[in-house]
Amino acid sequence: MKFFVDTAEIAAIAELNDLGMVDGVTTNPSLIKKSGRDIIEVTREICAMVSGPVSAEVTATDADTMIAEGRKLVEIAGNIAVKVPLTWDGLKACKVLSDEGHMVNVTLCFSVNQALLAAKAGATFISPFIGRLDDINLDGMELIEDIRTVYDNYGFETQILAASIRSVNHIADSARVGADVITAPPSVIKAMVNHPLTDKGLDAFLADIKAAGIKIL
Ligand code: G3P
Repeated sequence: MKFFVDTAEIAAIAELNDLGMVDGVTTNPSLIKKSGRDIIEVTREICAMVSGPVSAEVTATDADTMIAEGRKLVEIAGNIAVKVPLTWDGLKACKVLSDEGHMVNVTLCFSVNQALLAAKAGATFISPFIGRLDDINLDGMELIEDIRTVYDNYGFETQILAASIRSVNHIADSARVGADVITAPPSVIKAMVNHPLTDKGLDAFLADIKAAGIKIL
């Protein structure tokens, strides 16, 4: 499973990238706003740092402008994935841009039917939002599982990019049900290492190292 980082914060991406944990990056208008940076400048910096796909989202809602924005975004670097919303206009832009050979990430997916449409429009990635479904008492993980089944039934190559990840359990469960990619905030990826038994075991080893005066260097 690939790990994408869901942020436009350069320092946070760099920290995880140095550890080999970054297969790509996803951004959206809210994350760009949070960064306080110009979308083109910050996206260019991210693309220079990360070799995998970097999703940059269009701002328009009509297909023609989305296509024009997408063509401008892909000029930033060869690893841009144009992010478009799951609307008919977004699907039209997806079809045109993917036919031109560009990667497209179709975002704001909340149903299997929407995921089917995105795959048929040639999406490289489909982004179902787990957390936002959980927020309204639905089961986000069930959607990931259903899309996996449907895509496998028909051999669709669109990659399932589990998004709106809020907890470490979302990541483990996405892996269990076969998501191709997860995108998560840096804090959630970093929290994956935590286990109280690891801390407890290390404390015991450190006590014995001290007591026995064990030295390697
Ligand atoms: O990139 C989109 C997505 O990950 C948003 O997450 O937490 O705002 O629902 P959230």
